[in-house]
Amino acid sequence: MARRTKVYEGKAKVLYEGPEPGTLVQYFKDDATAFNAEKRDVIEGKGVLNNMLSEYFMSGLNQIGVPTHFIKRINMREQLIRAVDIIPLEVVVRNVAAGSISKRLGIEEGTPLPRPIIEFYFKDDALGDPLVTEDQILAFNWASHQDLDDMVALAVRVNDFMSGIMLAVGIKLVDFKIEIGRQFDGDMQRLIVADEISPDSCRLWDMKTGQKLDKDVFRRDLGSLTDAYSEVARRLGVMPKSP
Ligand code: C5P
Repeated sequence: MARRTKVYEGKAKVLYEGPEPGTLVQYFKDDATAFNAEKRDVIEGKGVLNNMLSEYFMSGLNQIGVPTHFIKRINMREQLIRAVDIIPLEVVVRNVAAGSISKRLGIEEGTPLPRPIIEFYFKDDALGDPLVTEDQILAFNWASHQDLDDMVALAVRVNDFMSGIMLAVGIKLVDFKIEIGRQFDGDMQRLIVADEISPDSCRLWDMKTGQKLDKDVFRRDLGSLTDAYSEVARRLGVMPKSP
């Protein structure tokens, strides 16, 4: 079998050249990292769960007309995606205070926010992905006014979609992060949701018990990460019950 060309390797995923121009193969690793990779571990089965869950969320978004990079799942750990130019910003949407906003602004975790809050973080590991303002984004040319409008519109639609499907299975979507890429067609560009949507990049709390079903289980040593992610998958009917 011919060796594939690796295009990029990140903390949790690897990108390989795809079979057609404009496509890539995204491989989900079992590596878990937190606090800018200061804490790391290998959690068997995490990559498989995130591949399936990201497929589930992104194919649902595609179906309701929110464009994503997802084309199809290839196997347990890989999916075929559209190649994009990733905008160097992490877009975070928050419905309930938790994590960094609780720390930064002194808001108790679990406090519902008056409306969804959208934040942008500059993707730079060396700087620890700092929070940035729209003015900084425009001044440093990371995105245009139109891009910002489009990114906010995408983030709001993803939030509505994800909140709804989680609510239906008794899970509160506290917050999440998405990455957005530029796809070019001649002179035209459109922005599409890229990277992954999985319990690695969301906060998911059981609505009855408050149990955390996301990467905070790893960040805060709250138990088995695969049990938490499997529970999300089980409720969504994404995978059969673990043996
Ligand atoms: O840490 P913070 O509260 O800012 O995270 C907000 C949301 O964004 C959480 O769901 C977290 O999992 C996600 N996030 C992420 N990747 C990062 C930073 C945050 O997926 N680099």
